[in-house]
Amino acid sequence: MSLTTPPEQSRSENRNAAAPTPSFTTKVTMPALAEMKRQGKPITALTAYDYATSRLVDEAGIDLILVGDSLAMVVLGHDNTLAVTVDEMLHHTRAVRRAVRRALVVADMPFGSYHGKLSEGVANAVRFVKEAGAEAVKIEGPRTELVRALTDAEIPVVGHLGLTPQSVHRMGGYKVQAKTAETMLQLRADAEALAEAGAGAIVLEGVPREVAAAVTADLAIPTIGIGAGPECDGQILVFHDILNMTFAPHAKFVRQYADVSAVIRDAVERYREDVEHRAFPTDEESYHLPAAARKAAESVLVVPDDSSGKA
Ligand code: KIV
Repeated sequence: MSLTTPPEQSRSENRNAAAPTPSFTTKVTMPALAEMKRQGKPITALTAYDYATSRLVDEAGIDLILVGDSLAMVVLGHDNTLAVTVDEMLHHTRAVRRAVRRALVVADMPFGSYHGKLSEGVANAVRFVKEAGAEAVKIEGPRTELVRALTDAEIPVVGHLGLTPQSVHRMGGYKVQAKTAETMLQLRADAEALAEAGAGAIVLEGVPREVAAAVTADLAIPTIGIGAGPECDGQILVFHDILNMTFAPHAKFVRQYADVSAVIRDAVERYREDVEHRAFPTDEESYHLPAAARKAAESVLVVPDDSSGKA
């Protein structure tokens, strides 16, 4: 352990020991999220995928930034999340890592990167920590053996239950899950098993409010909801959804906080018009030669009169 490592980041401490709740300036850690649950303080989470937007999200005080595999859809234009590769996810996670100072950076393990042998899942997760600076990985489904193996390898894990987008073909579409007594009990059992295996938090997606509330009350680790109602310990949404940058009808649970598409369209159209009308750039937006250099330039170049800016 480095002597400069703050106590709450020490790996040698007891995993269950209380960590201070993060303030607006202290680094958010996985144990700090559990402490927020204990204190009833809502956890704020949002996805982000690049340097500029991650900086803004971090500076706005969001506690957890997920480099979600949703980037396959909202950044890369795929129809679902299945096509994105480990290398693409690593590329985006590195950019986010360079931007973020305070939030916990969680990388989504993409489809296929943890569905085979346990050792492959662990090796891929190690890449996210070692090569991209992730502080935790997120995996979908009740994969308790893998969660245990990752925890043993010192890699914090966020679980993901309910509507798991990587299972879109098995589910037959993006459908709210855990609506029958049997599937509700299964969801609660899966959540308990993930917590028992060492998961530090669980994303609950597309689950009836009542079920998410009961599971949240049942667990010692935090739940982070998306389409799972207000009783979850935290909430997460997709960055592009809250800013109207997804070009698709929004799900019921999405709240749009700004129309960034409109702002970008307007700015780009005004720029195009200015260029077309020669209104950009102006003389003030141009560099000039000093008088002596202009004379020298005129002896070797044909310099149009009106380029002096002194029309
Ligand atoms: O990939 C993603 O963005 C997610 C969410 C929980 C929003 O998994």
